[in-house]
Formats: sequence, structure tokens, C-alpha cells
Amino acid sequence: MSGMWENTVDRIFVGASRKPDDSYQQAENLLLKMANRHGLVTGATGTGKTVTLQILAEAFSNAGVPVFCSDIKGDVAGLAMKGEPKDFLAKRAAAIQLDPYEFQEFPVIFWDLFGEKGHPVRATVSEMGPLLLSRLMNLTEAQEGVLNIAFRIADEEGMLLLDMKDLQAMLVNVGERANELGMRYGNINRASIGAIQRALLVLEEQGGAFFFGEPALKIADIMRTTRDGRGAINVLAAEKLMMNPRLYGTFLLWLLSELFEELPEVGDPAKPKLVFFFDEAHLLFNEAPRALMERIEQVVRLIRSKGVGVYFVTQNPLDVPETVLAQLGNRIQHALRAYTPREQKAVKTAADTFRPNPDFDCATAITTLGTGEALVSTLEEKGAPSMVQRTLVRPPASRLGPITDSERATIMAQSPVAGQYDQTIDRESAYELLRAQAEQAARTADEAARAEQAEKARKVEERQAGSRSENGWTLPEFPGGGTSQRQPQRRAPAPRTSNRQTVAEAAMKSVVRSVGSSLGRAIVRGILGSMKR
Ligand SMILES: Nc1ncnc2c1ncn2[C@@H]1O[C@H](COP(=O)(O)OP(=O)(O)OP(=O)(O)O)[C@@H](O)[C@H]1O
Ligand SMILES: [Mg+2]
Repeated sequence: MSGMWENTVDRIFVGASRKPDDSYQQAENLLLKMANRHGLVTGATGTGKTVTLQILAEAFSNAGVPVFCSDIKGDVAGLAMKGEPKDFLAKRAAAIQLDPYEFQEFPVIFWDLFGEKGHPVRATVSEMGPLLLSRLMNLTEAQEGVLNIAFRIADEEGMLLLDMKDLQAMLVNVGERANELGMRYGNINRASIGAIQRALLVLEEQGGAFFFGEPALKIADIMRTTRDGRGAINVLAAEKLMMNPRLYGTFLLWLLSELFEELPEVGDPAKPKLVFFFDEAHLLFNEAPRALMERIEQVVRLIRSKGVGVYFVTQNPLDVPETVLAQLGNRIQHALRAYTPREQKAVKTAADTFRPNPDFDCATAITTLGTGEALVSTLEEKGAPSMVQRTLVRPPASRLGPITDSERATIMAQSPVAGQYDQTIDRESAYELLRAQAEQAARTADEAARAEQAEKARKVEERQAGSRSENGWTLPEFPGGGTSQRQPQRRAPAPRTSNRQTVAEAAMKSVVRSVGSSLGRAIVRGILGSMKR
């Protein structure tokens, strides 16, 4: 029976379901055309989730499907290196009759929000949008309302919000105009502005200053394939990022929403356009307000028709809300413990979601699975779940475990995006424009004041002259009253128009560059509030 279980053009080999006495063996596959129906990988610590993610990523890549996944412990990075033969791997390969068992390295692109263990990945404040930013900063509803107004005004006035200082400047501006803006947008509470500004400072310290800005990540760059037709595996270094779980969760959600907004409808393709692994998925749903939860559900549901498969990886199936769980068609359940009532409930929930197999009791199986063994059920041709099978997952072809710093450096130097994201660009945006406006206003006020001075001096002179010649009578000065209504602004020497045009022109150019056809109108925002291009 050699070579029976290789990946074929339309399916991924996950492992073999078998009985310990080898009286029964069957390949367990994931159909590529069903891979956009999402999936779930769960199991307690050390039961084999990461290796399962690794073998799935390998197979997707070989099938020409780009992958995005995060690397929380540094062990996913091994995908970039060829695996080395080891006894326990060979034994496993033999047990599931994976023959030949070949080692291979994969085309990995490393990314890192902090720019240390991968190419910097950035987003602009505008792209992130008020909804996700509020989530990121844990704002109250009232504060979120104010942030929304700040975004609306920025959108309407063509102020680009690229980095954190843009948003800070915009908030200061909104605070200064609170009375005027309040009439149009409703009460703008200065205390809320202060609270947002403080939250921004915290976010800045946590790495936001590095993350928010340009050049922003281009979606096309994570959807690359190699010349020999393999999909890129994008690995997000997340060891440091995990220290700020909210930034981690919000960033991945932003990336999902960007994929959703940017990719065209493709229906149900023969294979996915991209597969997205969401590790530590509970961080996405933890304390998510209801409104956001609904949007997440919506994005997960709709992104399928863009050809994106989303695979949640988490310890406990109870971490994923039921409405989302119901959309995850391909399931790989590693072992769970069942000591506490909550654990027992998780086991029961997990067991109940499978199409039962008369050969064994699901709940019992879940608590007795070995390492790298799992209950597997995938979607069949017509979309129905396959009968659950107790499956020994195949061993990886790439390295099991981390890579060295110098290996990483070599791979990054050869990366197709090497040099593209390394340098921050700081082009003219809200901060610069508002500063220029403020300077202009100060100049105008200054000139006005000087004009008024001159006017006063002239008046004194006139009065002295008048008292000498016409008995000191002059006409009253009031609006519409005739002669000399004070209009220092108009009398002041015209503000340097050339200067003003420069600012306006620059603003136009910036807006054109980033919002294209929506110039002159407010920016259109997508399902999660990100900027639509
Ligand atoms: N399919 C497999 N083939 C070979 N070895 C495996 C396989 N799955 C798991 N193992 C072994 O089990 C170890 C633990 O697996 P893994 O790191 O995937 O667990 P995990 O569920 O991700 O744990 P954690 O929650 O702590 O991250 C691996 O380092 C490897 O030695
Ligand atoms: Mg792991």
C-alpha cells in the first residue's frame, strides 16, 4: 500500500484514521474546494495543534494556495527550513503509510508588527477605522462616539489620518472646534477627547507608533506565489505581540476585513485564494462588544465567497461563539482534558458537533487521544460533514521547531518584499496640514493685529487733524452706517496665497493618492469601518 496517501491535486492529506491493530486504515483528507468553508483546530496544550497547522500550511502551499498564520511561540517558523529525519517522525510516517516521506522547505515570508523578526507590517489609522481603534483602545461608547466624529470630519475635510500624531492632531483640532462642530454632529465632550488622547498615548507606548503609518501592508504581498507555483506562507512573528493581546486580536481582525474589502467575489473556487489561520482565536472574541461580534460573524460568513478560508486555532472549542462555530466546516479536534466542569462541558460541546461514528464514543475519544492524534471531520463533495474519524496526523515535511536568528536573516534578505517596507514614510497628512493651518491662522491673526494697530494710529491722526479743521464731528461707526466699518481681515494685506495653495494642493494630492475616485466626497468605509479603496 505504498504511496497511497499523498496529496493529490484536489485534496490535502491530513493523516490516516486507523485502528491500533492496523485492521483498518483510511486516508483523511481536506478537499481543496471545501477549504474556503473554514475550519477549527482545537486541543489542550501540547496536543499537536501547531504541528497540525504546520502540515496544513505545507499542503496549501504545495497546492499553490498562499497562507497567512501567526507564530506565537516561534515554532511555526520551522516551515521555512527543510525537516530532518528523526526516528519518531519516521515511525509515524510508517504507521500511516506515508511513503515516500520526503522533507521540504517552504517559501516563507516573515512579518512583524515591530519590525524585528520580520518585515514591518503597518496599517494607517484611516484604514484601521474608528470601530477597530475603539476596540483597540477599549473606549467607552461615548468616547467611541467622539472618535467617530473625528474620523468623519477628517474624511470630509480631506485630512489623512496615517499615523498616531495625525490622530492626536485631529483630536486637538476637534477639541478646539467643539462648539462649532457640536452643532452639526452633536455634543462633543472634552473629557472624552482627553480620555481618547490618553488611551492613544498608551497605545503608542505599546508599539502603536511603529505599527500605524506607511508604507501600509499591500494585500497583494501576502498573496504571492513562487515561480514554481507554490503559495507563499506568511508567518507573523507574534511572540512579542502576544504581550498585547488586544493589539494582536485587532490587527488580525483588521487584516481579515482588508481581505474582505479588497478581494473580488469568486464564489466557490476549486481551491482557496488564501487560507488564514487565526491562532489563539479566543483573543478575538474575548469581551468583544455585541456590535463587533456581529460584524465578525458577518465577515467570516461573507469572506468565503472571496475564496478565503479562515481556520481558528484555539485550546477550547467553547472559546468560539456558536454562531461562528456553526460556520466552521472542517474540524480537527485534538485531546482535551476533562477534570473541571468547564472542561467536561467543552468535551461535550466538541463531541456533539461531530457527525458520530458508531465505532467509538466521541467524548471518550477526545480525552484519550495521543499527541498528534485528532478527531477529524471535513466537508465532503456535497458539503456535508464526513463521519468523524480518529486520525493520526501526518508528520511535517519542514522542520519541527524554531529557526536561528541567522537563518531568519537569510530568508528575510531573500524575501520578495525585502526593502519594500523597511523604511517608514512620513508624507503630508492631518498632522502636517493642521500644523500648516494653525501657522497660517497665526500669521493671518498677526497681520490682522498689525493692520488694526496701523488703523488706530491713522484714526488718532485723523481725529487730531479733524478737530483742527471741522470742529471735531465725525460720522458714527457701525455696521451699515456708512464710511469706515472696521474690517481688519479684509484690510490686512492678503495672506500669502501662494503659500496657502501649496498646502491645499498638497492636501489634494495626498487625498488623490490614497482615496482615488472618492475625492471631494467623504471616504467610504467598509464593514469594519476600514477605509475602502
Ligand atoms: N503530526 C505530528 N507529527 C509528529 N509529531 C507531532 C505531531 N503533532 C505533534 N507532535 C509532537 O508533539 C509536540 C507538541 O505538539 P504541538 O507543538 O503541535 O502542540 P500544541 O497543541 O501546539 O501545544 P501548545 O498549545 O503548547 O502550543 C511537537 O513538538 C511534536 O514533537
Ligand atoms: Mg502550539
